[in-house]
Amino acid sequence: MKEEIVISIGGSILLPDDDNVSYIQELAEILKSLKEVYKLYLVVGGGSTARKYIKWGRSLGADEATLDELGISTSKLNARLLIIAMGKDVYPIPADNFDEAISAGNHYSVITMGGTHPGHTTDAVAAMLAERLNSDKLVNATSVDGVYTSDPKKDKDAKKIPELDYDRLLEIVSKSEGGAGPNVVFDPLAAKIIKRANIETSIVDGRDLESLKNAVRGKEFTGTRVTG
Ligand code: UTP
Repeated sequence: MKEEIVISIGGSILLPDDDNVSYIQELAEILKSLKEVYKLYLVVGGGSTARKYIKWGRSLGADEATLDELGISTSKLNARLLIIAMGKDVYPIPADNFDEAISAGNHYSVITMGGTHPGHTTDAVAAMLAERLNSDKLVNATSVDGVYTSDPKKDKDAKKIPELDYDRLLEIVSKSEGGAGPNVVFDPLAAKIIKRANIETSIVDGRDLESLKNAVRGKEFTGTRVTG
């Protein structure tokens, strides 16, 4: 049986503000090569589409949980785009919940999910799915090349941390603001789940496809490794 691996694919790398079809094609090629060796569970984020809808919904007066639902819908829309790019052997719809994803895994090599419930991000979905699958490994492909001492987009003295433990990660990500919409390198709820389930997590820049491939294969990669 193939080893099962969950990859959280940040919507911000799949769908930044501009047209990204060639990146999606390249990512799909890497994932197709990985699916020969691994059963892939791909949890896709909302990216710029989520950000736009959440901004518009907030301006129209929606509460945060309703805005979260917009984020969940856009993550599923993005997952559908990845399904198209992946071609065959893929469960044809984003699974709505973990039971559906796990049963789809009995028949397909690639399963996608988007968000599930308000109050967290797709990183937390990926961590929960990895826990349900009893995985000891999770890969988070995001828009920064690892965990920094503070937000590198706001603090020029921020330093990348190549390796850290669950508690230090929790300390760093707990400082993030709440509310709908993407804002932190790794969701605090996801950090709690990887700690309780002892899931080693690799955080890589998803645009660095070589590092993404190496992280999945358990080889050296550029990014941050989170362990117990
Ligand atoms: P993302 O998972 O895309 O946020 O969810 P992110 O990880 O911070 O951003 P990227 O994609 O890596 O850039 C987008 C929004 O959708 C809602 C939340 O509001 C979240 O901020 N969401 C998503 C949920 O409420 N529940 C979910 O399970 C997933």
